[in-house]
Amino acid sequence: EEVGKGTFDHFMLKEIHSQPASLGKTTRGRIADDKRGVRLEELDTGVLDGVADVHFVACGTSYHAALIGARMLSDVGVRTRVFRASEYAKTAGPVSETTLVVPVTQSGETADTLSALRTANERGAATMTVTNVVGSTAAREADESLFIRAGPEIGVAATKTFTSQVVTLTLLAQQLAADLPGATPRDDLPELLTALERIPEHVEQVVTSSRASDLATRLLEYDAYFFIGRGMSQSVALEGALKFKEITYEHAEGFAAGQLKHGPLALVTPETPVVGVFTGEEAGQTVTNAMEARTRGAEIIGVGPAGGPGEAASDIYLTVPDTHPVCQNLLANVQLQLFAYHTAKELDRSIDKPRNLAKSVTVQ
Ligand code: G6P
Repeated sequence: EEVGKGTFDHFMLKEIHSQPASLGKTTRGRIADDKRGVRLEELDTGVLDGVADVHFVACGTSYHAALIGARMLSDVGVRTRVFRASEYAKTAGPVSETTLVVPVTQSGETADTLSALRTANERGAATMTVTNVVGSTAAREADESLFIRAGPEIGVAATKTFTSQVVTLTLLAQQLAADLPGATPRDDLPELLTALERIPEHVEQVVTSSRASDLATRLLEYDAYFFIGRGMSQSVALEGALKFKEITYEHAEGFAAGQLKHGPLALVTPETPVVGVFTGEEAGQTVTNAMEARTRGAEIIGVGPAGGPGEAASDIYLTVPDTHPVCQNLLANVQLQLFAYHTAKELDRSIDKPRNLAKSVTVQ
């Protein structure tokens, strides 16, 4: 195990640092040279024939990746819903052969996600899993599989598989934009694909220059940590809070920034730092919400591009390269992975094997 960690103290840190390589593998050969389309060659696109809408089913971190995938699909005009896999059988509503059900699962073995996949298969939907594990149960039971190519992940808290899931789903959305009648390719497709190709370089910049470890030493012993964002940044906030609670055992919650004043604000005090994900077009509005917390004495930890609207609003600001908004969100996630990791390390937690949690949950 020691050899496997190389020079890193934990597998989680090693996996965070390996994201330039894992993301390079995720995109390799899948982006057209002219940046006008994607090539998911391993996918038999026959599974897409007649598809009118998409349902994502997933748990935990994979659910947050699916939320971003859904946004990518709705951006290109595909009707999409996202379900917690454990709720799918009860809440899916009409599912038919025109529905493509996409279980997003790193392991391909999560019981709740497999159950949702089986529900979809029984109801006659087309199914396509997005997974890391070739030969997993999800890959065997779905009509089609799309692999995220992140390589094995040992740390229970998912890091590199989350970023590879998001990139894979982003590519899948562009494939559906080209293949599904009624869908429309993005106007900024070349910019997005160019930014995705540069993501390994940008992640490298983040992991080598991050100030998250300084931040962690300053922010111990608080009552709770709140994470806020809007749009895609909200999904990053939710994932940031999940990662933080999983490995620090501190109370952390993610909220839609606009919902702060509808309840969670009652919990905000000088003892509850608020992490604002200030990326993309919605950053300015998220700043307004962060100010509501700051007025109540909360420290604001911002994540966003240098000179972005969040910088002046933050007590501490973790920067990401100023790239395409989708990629800014991925890079913000990397900063929050590091924030969770370093805080857990300061608190001397069991980082690679957090208490009560399993890498793959094979019971419902
Ligand atoms: C467990 C793990 C999480 C993971 C979730 C879904 O709860 O601790 O890290 O996100 O299962 O796992 P999957 O393999 O389906 O992505």
